[in-house]
Amino acid sequence: MSLTEIKPATQPKHFLSTQDWQWDELSALIDHAIQLKSNPIQPLLKGKSIALVFFNPSLRTRASFDIGANQLGAHAVVLEPGSGSWEMAFNEGEIMDGPAEEHAKEAARVLSRYCDIIAVRAFPKFQDWSIDRQDRVLNAFATHATVPIINMETITHPCQELAHLMTLREHFGTNDLRGKKYVLTWTYHPKPLNTAVANSAALIATRAGMDVTMLCPNEHYLLDERYMNAASNNAAQSGGSFSVSHDINAAYEDADIVYAKSWGAIPFFGNWDAEKPIRDQHKHFIVDEAKMALTNNAAFSHCLPARRNIKATDAVMDSPNSLIIEEAENRLHAQKALMAAIASTNH
Ligand code: CP
Repeated sequence: MSLTEIKPATQPKHFLSTQDWQWDELSALIDHAIQLKSNPIQPLLKGKSIALVFFNPSLRTRASFDIGANQLGAHAVVLEPGSGSWEMAFNEGEIMDGPAEEHAKEAARVLSRYCDIIAVRAFPKFQDWSIDRQDRVLNAFATHATVPIINMETITHPCQELAHLMTLREHFGTNDLRGKKYVLTWTYHPKPLNTAVANSAALIATRAGMDVTMLCPNEHYLLDERYMNAASNNAAQSGGSFSVSHDINAAYEDADIVYAKSWGAIPFFGNWDAEKPIRDQHKHFIVDEAKMALTNNAAFSHCLPARRNIKATDAVMDSPNSLIIEEAENRLHAQKALMAAIASTNH
């Protein structure tokens, strides 16, 4: 048998993208998360374990998964490949003559013997989008693990989507967000950032049937066609809409929700010096009081971390309409519901 044939007989139910889950399943997770928020300590995962594999830094994701697992009676182990655990290779057929000491094929299968869930954070390398868009690290774990895999942010951030949706439902006091005008706005940031949260915001807002406008400086900042097309298809199915605008005033006009995020322009992957002069011309995309005044008393949110007075002003970040802390809190509740829903029954 060749190494490429070493695969689990049946695939566990992973959480790699919300697009793989039915809308009713996502809604049920949010309903359970709201219950857990009012009754947080429950032995739903008593005796179980989760491995949190971080290839990149985190505050919210790391703390909320670790604490959430503990609150449900589970044990969480944090692993940081290349810093405290072995540097890892993940490409199929790789000749491992570089710094990596082990392959994801072994890591995924070994952790599957210890744990009931494996969660993975692996950002793009920002050198070649044609490679990064393959999400090789996450897919290597999903292929070779025999327990469910959770995406803790790779090229999408589905856990953030759950928290975002939960927060909007709480804020508006309804599960039905259809017809809300939702603005996903690009903002300036001194460095090119991951498109993951923008991809995810476009996916979940269109699944929810909102009228979604993606505001960005120009066509260079369009998302990968995979997510642009998925957002359009979602909107067609949910009865919402998905459009792109480069007009700040028109986009903010009568908005009910403003969700801010910065991301790097995909055509400039690996050539960021060429993007910088374009990026530097668009510092005025900052979310400020004047723009928010154009809206329908819109809620503001951001996934965090966010650079104050670069992405959004202090006045917006600290306004009564700002949901940034609520959304961060809801990561905890939503991920507990997720872990309880998918934990392996193997152990
Ligand atoms: N929003 C989010 O994922 O935060 P961290 O990067 O701090 O985990």
